[in-house]
Amino acid sequence: MLRDQFPGLNIQVHGKPLVYLDNAATAQRPQAVIDAVNDYYLNHNANIHRGVHSLSESATELYEQARVSLAKLINAPSHKDLIFVRGCTEGVNLVAQTFVRNRVKAGDEILISHLEHHSNIVPWQLVCEQTGAKLKVIPMNEQGELVLDDLDQLLNEKTRFMAVGHVSNALGTINPVKKLIQAAHDKGVPVLIDGAQAMPHLKVDVQDLDCDFYTVSGHKMYGPTGSGVLYGKAEHLNAMPPYHGGGEMISKVTFDSTVYNAVPAKFEAGTPNIAGGIGLGAAAEFMMKAGLDNITQRDHELRIYAEQKLNEVSGLRVFGTAKEKAPVFSFVIDGIHAHDIGTIIDHYGVAIRTGHHCTMPIFQFFGVAGSCRASFAFYNTEQEVDVLVESLHKAKAMFT
Ligand code: ALA
Repeated sequence: MLRDQFPGLNIQVHGKPLVYLDNAATAQRPQAVIDAVNDYYLNHNANIHRGVHSLSESATELYEQARVSLAKLINAPSHKDLIFVRGCTEGVNLVAQTFVRNRVKAGDEILISHLEHHSNIVPWQLVCEQTGAKLKVIPMNEQGELVLDDLDQLLNEKTRFMAVGHVSNALGTINPVKKLIQAAHDKGVPVLIDGAQAMPHLKVDVQDLDCDFYTVSGHKMYGPTGSGVLYGKAEHLNAMPPYHGGGEMISKVTFDSTVYNAVPAKFEAGTPNIAGGIGLGAAAEFMMKAGLDNITQRDHELRIYAEQKLNEVSGLRVFGTAKEKAPVFSFVIDGIHAHDIGTIIDHYGVAIRTGHHCTMPIFQFFGVAGSCRASFAFYNTEQEVDVLVESLHKAKAMFT
């Protein structure tokens, strides 16, 4: 079974088997990823792209092979269109500062959506502060779906860029990104898709989407923390100035001037997270072997089961009931603070996240400070849904 390949799921918490339902915060890693990271440190530990010695060459080969695996996973035209970054946050900031900032002036507009994580809001607010541009927001409805009725006005002659999440980390909504990209491109507006929460659940094809940029966080897709990639169309990456200055991103340096290296090295200053990149490549290979369609199908089964079971808990309100949805459930229970629920059910081994989930505007919309969030991965089971629900009943019993 695929679940057996995740050793982190086999631990006990407060003497109870762990029920890990905080996958949207970070996923567990399969043994293949742990082994790939260990293998680098044990057998190939050297810096990359710099040495002529064998160890450096083998480390470089593993790192570059990981880039190829990731390109295959998201169907990028070339592995050279992928920049290794720390995660989606760095990917969004890179695009904001090197692609968008130079293209906007006072009065121009950048379009995002109400469903964004703070990491796809604040980088654009920074660009707006730096340039005088305005941030515009595609609204959402009570179901947690984007309302596209006014998209034609929101995408107007002032719009210079659009940045939208593929899947909401707080509500699980799967946004119609292909449609949004098409609408933006019809107006000549380039688009970034934040893929942090889509990668663990969906088959992503950047050529089919035709997005200009796509961000990937390694640790959400069963890879190491501090790893990720930014995909960009080659024409954009070649034209963009570097983000960070340092070693590796240059081809010639004098005190008068510097000639930059070719893409992707131009964006990869300094010694990178080598072990993380290699581990992320192993995660990509793991997912392709597991089968993206199998993962999506399992997600769907868990979503349907969890939805039904949670709806049976009286006084429980789920936020986000979109038709297209990943197995992520934000909820509150009448009369009990979300943090209290999280703390109580931890004693039954159940790990969920509580709070605003780095999406304060979503909870402002619903008029609450935050929620409990149970977020599932394909390795979770129906039995774990039952343990969650039983533990919620026990929490309720303590407050009545
Ligand atoms: N973005 C992560 C989450 O949704 C940390 O929990």
